[in-house]
Amino acid sequence: MRFDNHRVVITAAGRDFGRTLAIRLADLGAEVFLSARSLAAAERVRDEIRDRGQQQVHAFSCDLTDPASIRDFAAGVARHTGHIDVLINNGSRYLEGPDLESASDADIADTIASGATGTVLTVKNFLPLLLNSDKPDVVTMVSACGAAGHHRADAHDAFYAAKSAQAGFAEILSKRLRPQGVRVMSLYPPDFANPDPLSEEWEATPRGAEDALTAQSLVECILFAVAQPRDCFIKAFHFEQV
Ligand SMILES: NC(=O)c1ccc[n+]([C@@H]2O[C@H](COP(=O)([O-])OP(=O)(O)OC[C@H]3O[C@@H](n4cnc5c(N)ncnc54)[C@H](OP(=O)(O)O)[C@@H]3O)[C@@H](O)[C@H]2O)c1
Repeated sequence: MRFDNHRVVITAAGRDFGRTLAIRLADLGAEVFLSARSLAAAERVRDEIRDRGQQQVHAFSCDLTDPASIRDFAAGVARHTGHIDVLINNGSRYLEGPDLESASDADIADTIASGATGTVLTVKNFLPLLLNSDKPDVVTMVSACGAAGHHRADAHDAFYAAKSAQAGFAEILSKRLRPQGVRVMSLYPPDFANPDPLSEEWEATPRGAEDALTAQSLVECILFAVAQPRDCFIKAFHFEQV
């Protein structure tokens, strides 16, 4: 599978899974437009990718709690390209704690703003570039916490609220954008192992039936879904927990 003809936008790619996606997609030939809350973090990942020989990579700052920052990110990408093929909504702040009162009001507002409002505004602002593509896809990293009835995570209620908002948004969007040719796909993983793709652990992480889901498998799910012909619209990935 190669992605040479894909222009991909990824939010929150300064570390962890977003960085992993940026590195793997760039390795497979995609032109990557990656953002992180801090420009320095985005530039670090851009430079890691350039050091691997892929020069088609661009770094931006984007704070998903700030509508102006999202608009600036989209405008910055539009200065490089007239279309994007894949938007990956990866960014979303995690908040720990099974007790509603354990988090401050500010942390609760920030968690919901980054995951819920941030995702809606990111899609809104990138939609014109997506609609210029002949193969537009929106991929959202939701969470098992966004699936109805889920209760097994130690995440705070605000995180559940943010992920449920992402799930509801993706659900309606997948129907409303389909006539325009946009596939809206969502992943609902439980906690997964998140090894560094540039470390030996990437190849060594156990991936047996008794092991936790891995970032490796999630990357492969996304690549598989995006690579399918347009009649194959994989709307959601759900995973049985260990
Ligand atoms: N890891 C898991 O087990 C798991 C399970 C289910 C779903 N997910 C979802 O998968 C996605 C990636 O997971 P992850 O493990 O890589 O997440 P993570 O380690 O919790 O990292 C969160 C990412 O979101 C960014 N972020 C937080 N607030 C932001 C804001 N206001 N604006 C922009 N970026 C912001 C962080 O950037 P900074 O570096 O600036 O903090 C960081 O890059 C997330 O949507 C997560 O909810 C993860």
